[in-house]
Formats: sequence, structure tokens, C-alpha cells
Amino acid sequence: MKFFIDTANLDEIREAYDLGVLDGVTTNPSLMAKEGISGDERVKAHYKAICDIVDDNVSAEVIATDFEGMIREGKELAKIDDKIVVKIPMIKDGVKAIKKFHSEGIRTNCTLIFGPGQALVAAKAGATYVSPFVGRLDDISYDGLELIDQIVQIYQNYGYATQVLAASIRHTMHLIKCAEIGADVATCPLKVITGLLKHPLTDSGLATFLADHAKAAGK
Ligand code: G3P
Repeated sequence: MKFFIDTANLDEIREAYDLGVLDGVTTNPSLMAKEGISGDERVKAHYKAICDIVDDNVSAEVIATDFEGMIREGKELAKIDDKIVVKIPMIKDGVKAIKKFHSEGIRTNCTLIFGPGQALVAAKAGATYVSPFVGRLDDISYDGLELIDQIVQIYQNYGYATQVLAASIRHTMHLIKCAEIGADVATCPLKVITGLLKHPLTDSGLATFLADHAKAAGK
């Protein structure tokens, strides 16, 4: 399973990368705004800074919602670095743009997926990744993990190469359940990745080992 970090914060990206288990980064316009990044040139420079930290898979989202605009912006984003994956919303022109980028060898991440039919269409268009939003479905009393299960099943049925990138992951159990289901990737905040390390029995066990070692050494 690949781990992506869902942030545009460079310190958090560095911290996750330094852990040695990070496979990529996802951003979106809200996350860029949260870091105070705006204006074409600053946005591009920020994506470049992210690419310089990680090995691959940096999702950069288009703002345009028309086909020509998405193609123009997506090509500009793809030029920043080979690690860029162009993030395209699940709308009609977005599907056409994904198809076009696929034919040109530009990787895409189809975002704002809330239903299995959307994921099926994105895979047929040749998306590299689809991003179903688990937490946002849970927020409105739908079962976000059930959607991950449906998409994984559909892609297995037909052997689609599109990878299921579980997004809007809010806590460690979301991530663990996505791993059980077989999602290819989970993108999540830093606290979810570091949260996986925690167990009280690990902490108390280590404290006992160290205390016993000190006692035996006569300290
Ligand atoms: O990758 C999508 C993600 O940023 C959405 O997360 O927590 O805003 O629903 P959230």
C-alpha cells in the first residue's frame, strides 16, 4: 500500500518523508490556500518545492473546469516536474481531459469521487488514480469505506490499471480498513501516518525493557 500525505505544508511533508515510508503528496486548492499560497507563479514554485522533497507522485489540481482550460493548466503543471500528477475533478470535461492526458502519457488523479459509477468512468478514461473521499461521505451518513470496497471490486472484475487512492482519511482506522479492503493508496494528514505507530503496550513494554536493563547493569 502506498502512503501519500494530504497537505501542502512543507514541514509536514519533510517530516513524513524523513520517516521513510512516504510515497507521494496530494494537494488541493483548499490545502494550498491554507498555506497562503496563491498566484500562478507562487503556486508553481510551491509545487516545485514539494517535488524537491519527495521521490514521486505529487498531485497538483487544475482550477479550470472547461476542457481547454484543464488541458492548458494541466500541461503547465506537468511541465514543473516529472513527479507531477495532474488532478482533475470528476466532471464531464474532466473525463475528456483525463482521456486526452492518458493518450499523451501524462498521469492524472481524478478527484471528488463519491460514487462507484464515477470511478468506473474515470478508469475507462484512463485515470492513473481515482480519489474517493471517505470522510466526507461518512460526514453525511453514507459509508465511505463501502465505496472503497465497491471500487476495488469493480476494478478487480475488469482488471483496470487505475489505482484506488482513498482520500479524506480522517483517522487511523479509516486507513487500516482501506488496507484490509485493498485500496492501492491512502492519502492522509501526518497525524494519521504517525498515529499508526502508537500502541500503549509498546510504550510500557519498552519502559520495562529499559528498566530491567538498567537494573541488571546495577544502575
Ligand atoms: O484529498 C482530499 C482531502 O483533502 C479531503 O479531505 O478531510 O477535507 O475531507 P477532507
